[in-house]
Amino acid sequence: MDKSFPLSGFGSAALHAGHKKDPLYAHVTPIYASSTFVYDEAEQGMRRFSGEEDGYIYSRWGNPNFTEAEDKIAALEAFGLKDAGGNPLQLKAFLHASGMAALTTLMISSLKKGDKILSHYSLYSGLEELITRILPQFGVEPVIVDLRDLNKASEAIKANPELKMMYLETPANPTIQCVDLEELTKIAKANNLLVAVDNTFATPCLQQPFKYGVDFVFHSTTKFLNGHGTAIGGVLLGKDLERMNNQYKKTYRILGVNSNPFDAFLLTQGMKTLELRMERHCFNAMKVAEFLSTHSAISKVNYAGLASHPDHKTALKQMKHPGGMLSYEMKGGLQSGIDFMNKLKMCVRTVSLGTAESILCHPASMTHAGTPKLSREKYGITDGLIRMSVGLENIEDILNDLEQALN
Ligand SMILES: Cc1ncc(COP(=O)(O)O)c(C=O)c1O
Repeated sequence: MDKSFPLSGFGSAALHAGHKKDPLYAHVTPIYASSTFVYDEAEQGMRRFSGEEDGYIYSRWGNPNFTEAEDKIAALEAFGLKDAGGNPLQLKAFLHASGMAALTTLMISSLKKGDKILSHYSLYSGLEELITRILPQFGVEPVIVDLRDLNKASEAIKANPELKMMYLETPANPTIQCVDLEELTKIAKANNLLVAVDNTFATPCLQQPFKYGVDFVFHSTTKFLNGHGTAIGGVLLGKDLERMNNQYKKTYRILGVNSNPFDAFLLTQGMKTLELRMERHCFNAMKVAEFLSTHSAISKVNYAGLASHPDHKTALKQMKHPGGMLSYEMKGGLQSGIDFMNKLKMCVRTVSLGTAESILCHPASMTHAGTPKLSREKYGITDGLIRMSVGLENIEDILNDLEQALN
């Protein structure tokens, strides 16, 4: 694309950003399945290793397919935003083998022995385990409070001078809790904390955390960014280019947490339709939430688009739309959750989220089957809780399938 043509729409950026003209004129960037890259002469190798000349060296360090996906995500997270000097915001992204790999780079690069990390209860279980079980082995302790209450954030910071980072996930599993990005970032920044946000559920199409001055955004690209359930992946984005190109790049390269050319290729193709897909996910999710909230077999619907959701106002403040994820509670508990899941005819019984198809998960009989009831209920995972990632099917078919399974 000619760089002198400014893109005014997010959907156009999703299609064109990050793409570079292929030397052999292929329309779509081919898959660069090569572990290493060659030099015309030894001096060129020297220039590449010293950073004097741009160019690929070894695919653990970088690959043209990673670059295209990284630059596209960076363009979307920064779309329409300005930096402190009023210039278009520039971000640096590193594409990882999984969301958890990207979180590992973030934590290892940012925290050291004696530091603490502030977060909230509603977190993806893998991240929760990382910060409550694994990081403490390296002398980094978690401080977990309900960050929907801003006073609790200030109190926790006052009581824990060792805090180095605030980590937020919004909206979050399983009850679609939302925390206030603007207010929490203000509090964190007044106390010199780094702020990192998991933007997996919202995607940059619905929410842009960098608008509020956060330092890092993280995605499990496995979900809505890929959009078709074809590849595991993760990305870490940062706005301090100096920090990203030095400390964070070094950690990324050493840990071996890189993506691979095929998964990066799939992600790039998926992201091209992000805006279109999110519009349909959101439209369908609102209809499903409205349908479920009047159904006699359901006791509660957790969808931030409903005025009854406790974080409805927060979601409206920072999201263009409350998204494609919701959860709900079946009146009959565990067995009714199992029966409902067994009766689904079109919607898919599986974990994960953000795919083109509607997928449903019953945590009490699936992901959390081995977790004691009391422990899981602390996190809102009741016996009858169903989580749904609302897909792109025609809404009539989604509602018909849910209805026949509920009745
Ligand atoms: C919100 C959220 N963050 C992070 C992750 C971890 O990502 P991955 O499974 O790609 O490692 C997940 C995975 O389900 C998730 O849902």
